[in-house]
Amino acid sequence: MTEFLDSLKAIVGPRGWKTDAHDLEPYLTEWRGVFVGRTPMVVAPATTDEVAAVVRACSDAGVGIVPQGGNTSMCAGAIPDESGEQIVLSLERLNRIRNLDALNYSIEVEAGCLLATIQAAASDGGLHFPLSLAAEGSCQIGGNLATNAGGLNVIRYGTARALVLGLEVVLADGSVLSSMRSLRKDTAGYDLKQLFIGSEGTLGIITAAALKLFPAPGELTTALIALRESGDAVRLLAKLRTALADRIAAFEIVSGPIFELVERHIPGAKLPFSDPHPWYVLIQVATNGEQEILENALLSEPAAELIIDAVIAKNSAEANQLWHLRHSISEAERQHGKALKHDISVPVSKMQEFLTRGDALLTEMLPDAELLAFGHVGDGNLHYNVQLPGELTPEQWDEVGEQITVAIYDLVATLGGSFSAEHGVGQSKKRYLERYRGGVELELMRRLKSTLDPRNILNPGKVI
Ligand code: FAD
Ligand code: MLT
Ligand code: ZN
Repeated sequence: MTEFLDSLKAIVGPRGWKTDAHDLEPYLTEWRGVFVGRTPMVVAPATTDEVAAVVRACSDAGVGIVPQGGNTSMCAGAIPDESGEQIVLSLERLNRIRNLDALNYSIEVEAGCLLATIQAAASDGGLHFPLSLAAEGSCQIGGNLATNAGGLNVIRYGTARALVLGLEVVLADGSVLSSMRSLRKDTAGYDLKQLFIGSEGTLGIITAAALKLFPAPGELTTALIALRESGDAVRLLAKLRTALADRIAAFEIVSGPIFELVERHIPGAKLPFSDPHPWYVLIQVATNGEQEILENALLSEPAAELIIDAVIAKNSAEANQLWHLRHSISEAERQHGKALKHDISVPVSKMQEFLTRGDALLTEMLPDAELLAFGHVGDGNLHYNVQLPGELTPEQWDEVGEQITVAIYDLVATLGGSFSAEHGVGQSKKRYLERYRGGVELELMRRLKSTLDPRNILNPGKVI
């Protein structure tokens, strides 16, 4: 092993590796701190050629590689297993913006660029990169693409996949696939880049991407709306979509108990209402100087009858305060402690049925469980998280938790949905891929994996 590690050190140079236990620690624990892995070394190549050389060396030695971006994965996809034999390959030094082509509305970036850096570069060029999520200050575009991240603006712009024009990927044998073409139209053969988007580092290592940019969205208006029941969010969305069409840039649902956690755990967080409400919707609308568009839509029937109360941000400072509440949810949940996380999606037309049947299912299975739900209801994606009663022993917790999770996922499957909408599969949801994507679908995934990574060195033990 020492000789092998020395060969990696020679490839990446003195600034490109870490072996000290203290330095390795942040790369080994996932965001929620539930899974912890081990590794002899983190390598951080600074160029695509260095990534390719590291992969070739690992392939020759049969050593597993775990690509890691910002390590914000919600399913423990970016940390190594406990064997201590897998190498972590961090993309953090591959972080240059290669080119911004304003006329073509595109930008070429390396995989280790922070999402927030790309948003800022687009904005500096008078354009807009719409992928946005609470982890944007620490997640990297390579990780966003490897997980096909969703986030807050999918209703208007689609998931990460929809924003990609071209990719550069290091394959398992160390060869470099470059499809860095900034084209909106290209029907020459198979669209190979799609294979790697959402493959969570198991089919190739993304080293760069050509991304779509959009015109700056102009003025965006944000409102926080209080509702009586979760189904009203779906009804409100339908009515506002008729009035506002594709001006809706975000449509997020948050349950009362979730915002209570935010107010309890996040210093300074305060809802703008005097009384708490059962459910809330946070909406962002492209109003382009006509703020009254949103106000009129909310005040007029049939939307108005669904709304208990609403606050429309008057300026960007007020809007930022409302978004701060939304962005703080994961941190508040983390501080609150262990809960079952379910990142599910169903067709928006089935969302109301899911909410009703999900509530009934929880009440029947464990009346003391607390529903902590929020998410991107405009995309049919809910974080349908459940807090189990505190008096359960760890063994009971695991057993009851698994029963509830499977019951929820079964319901989701019945409604034509997915057990993983935007967080991926990683380690923590692998067993559900077998259960819900069996047959030809899973078999084809296995064939792709063994074709592209015959020695199983790319993120071994994840996804399939
Ligand atoms: P990592 O966590 O480092 O890696 C994720 C996966 O991608 C791993 O399997 C890893 O091996 C692989 N990978 C990383 N980089 C590469 C690469 N260059 N090539 C190949 N494989 C690679 N997700 C959403 O979709 N929507 C949200 O709204 C959202 N909000 C979040 C909020 C918070 C506070 C946090 C902590 C997470 C949130 N996430 C969300 C989950 C997470 O941020 C996203 O999945 C993000 O896209 C992961 O990016 P990352 O750089 O941290 O990747
Ligand atoms: C979000 O929407 O904030 C996320 O996907 C993160 C989470 O589920 O905690
Ligand atoms: Zn989310």
